[in-house]
Amino acid sequence: MKRDFLHVTDFTADEINATFELAKEVKARFKRREDYKPFKDHSMAMIFAKPSARTRISFETGFFRMGGHALYLGPSDISIGKREAVKDIARVISRYNDVIMARLFEHAHVLELAEFASVPVINGLTDYNHPCQIMADMFTILEHRGHLDDLKVVYVGDGNNIVHSWLRLAQRLPFHFVCACPEGYSPDAQTIADAKQAGLSQIEISHDPQRSVKDADIVYTDVWASMGQKDQAEERKKRFQGFQVNEALMAATGKESLFMHCLPAERGVETTDGVLESKTSIIFDEAENRMHAQNAILLKICGKA
Ligand code: CP
Ligand code: NVA
Repeated sequence: MKRDFLHVTDFTADEINATFELAKEVKARFKRREDYKPFKDHSMAMIFAKPSARTRISFETGFFRMGGHALYLGPSDISIGKREAVKDIARVISRYNDVIMARLFEHAHVLELAEFASVPVINGLTDYNHPCQIMADMFTILEHRGHLDDLKVVYVGDGNNIVHSWLRLAQRLPFHFVCACPEGYSPDAQTIADAKQAGLSQIEISHDPQRSVKDADIVYTDVWASMGQKDQAEERKKRFQGFQVNEALMAATGKESLFMHCLPAERGVETTDGVLESKTSIIFDEAENRMHAQNAILLKICGKA
């Protein structure tokens, strides 16, 4: 049976922890510039229906450094679901490539891609979730704190794809997760219910960022208008007043909290230059760890580890 990585919950808690261990090991190999080529003579197709910097660069660079070849297929190359049916392109790519990474709009499309592909499929973001990001994020938190005990993560902003992945991670690892978002911008109700029902983590959805960030170990934010919603940006700026992660909000945690952002950031909108550049901002460690976490995910689902 081939393995896919479409949601964080596709991995068990043991597999998630093993992925963090493997990410640490592969990261050390990269830093030593070891000759490490588990993907020699392998190729990965990367389908992008949306723009990307980190996802493209980290997957392409990571796979190349592990001996493989990554093929970039941009929005106009495949036009998935428009020029060609998802189930057709899934089977075509499977005849050429060993693994597929896809960044798509519709979550249903990544599910269909995985169903019809005979090779592993990794979700590089959909409108619903961003599992590779959250694996990199938790790995980064683990590196900085040394452990994941008594962890409080407060996400401030839009209840979007990033939040859905946090909520799914909370079904597998225990932590306190708060999403502070304006009313009407809460995450998906079923995903909240599933996270609560798992009974492992403390889950809160709040509309009061000042109160929510108290005692946060991590304050996390993301853009207010995601890819595909940019026409709502001005309206959202009005609705999200009071939800900016600025110096005052960071001070309201009452402790030296770490600041995270999946990037790209809109400076001066969801957060400020001061917070992004502050000494407790770990955004570039987080960006770097995309590559190490994904390498570990690739090794696992391709049966190399
Ligand atoms: N964080 C992230 O996925 O960045 P890109 O959209 O640039 O890939
Ligand atoms: N929520 C953002 C994440 C970008 C990495 C988006 O979907 O555009």
